[in-house]
Amino acid sequence: MRTTFLVTTFLVGLAASALPAKAAGSLNLICASDVKWCELMERLFEKDHDIDVNMVRMSSGEAYARIRAEARNPKTDLWWAGTGDPHLQAAEDKLTLEYKSPKLAELQPWAQKQAEVSGYRTVGVYSGALGWGYNTQILDKKGLAAPACWKDLTDAKYKGEIQIANPNSSGTAYTALATLVQLMGEDQAFDYLKALNANVTQYTKSGSAPVKAAARGETGIGIVFMHDAVAMTKQGFPVKTVAPCEGTGFEVGSMSIVKGAKNLENAKVFYDWALSAEVQSHAAEADSYQLPSNRTAAVPPEAPKLGEIKLIDYDFAKFGNATTRKSLLERWDREIGASAN
Ligand code: F6P
Repeated sequence: MRTTFLVTTFLVGLAASALPAKAAGSLNLICASDVKWCELMERLFEKDHDIDVNMVRMSSGEAYARIRAEARNPKTDLWWAGTGDPHLQAAEDKLTLEYKSPKLAELQPWAQKQAEVSGYRTVGVYSGALGWGYNTQILDKKGLAAPACWKDLTDAKYKGEIQIANPNSSGTAYTALATLVQLMGEDQAFDYLKALNANVTQYTKSGSAPVKAAARGETGIGIVFMHDAVAMTKQGFPVKTVAPCEGTGFEVGSMSIVKGAKNLENAKVFYDWALSAEVQSHAAEADSYQLPSNRTAAVPPEAPKLGEIKLIDYDFAKFGNATTRKSLLERWDREIGASAN
């Protein structure tokens, strides 16, 4: 009897040790994508794991600022999504942790490159190009042609019809700023932004807010990532998406583990899970039409195809560099933000 008990105990113990350990506890997550996708990720993760997620949604620049402010005593474990530039800045500042996920080899080259450039302190989770969405009914009613190029947006006929986010809080707007600098040169880009400012009614906090405002009829045009404009069309709003004729920039939405994370093992569990094809294939359920970084994840048919858009060779190493980002944002504050309408 006693021998049977011991053997059984031994076998159960052996079986348990052969299984991957099931992590428990909690995970403090900053999510910097659209709130619908953030909530879906939280739900899916909690369904698959015995880990409670405490999630806050923030824009990319705000997420960076929060992680920087928490550096001495981090409350956040993992920062999922948001544009790549502030993730790269956090990597350079050594605010995030080096981690090589076993999933790395499954990722698109642009997602692996993001990891390499950062010394493996961040990784690409999705990509998408910058452009704008416009409300067809508003432009029709006002007799305005749809703007096709960056240069069109500064035409006085669009006065009062454009919204874009503030690049300090928003990664989308920082991508726009960096894109214009790469397309035109820095001084010309700031001249352009001053001209654009005359047509802008509002610099929003979140990057996708301008096209949500256009969808509701509060403005004619929102400068956003193209997938955020597509999401409005999918939701039934009269919104059309434009890829600027001169060419445009794109994001490598990223993910980083915070250095000093209190729930490090759980952060790694989420990290590997979020890079899987299975999880990335759920994005479209949350009206998120970015291109997934896992090569075998389902690509939503609505996702704007990078191969069909005139893209610039966006220099992530340079524009995610702390000195460059800080200096461009300071100049934006001085020359644009200070005189914003
Ligand atoms: O709405 C989704 C999204 O455009 C992501 O693709 C992007 O990483 C993020 O939002 C940027 O948000 P923000 O401009 O508010 O930082």
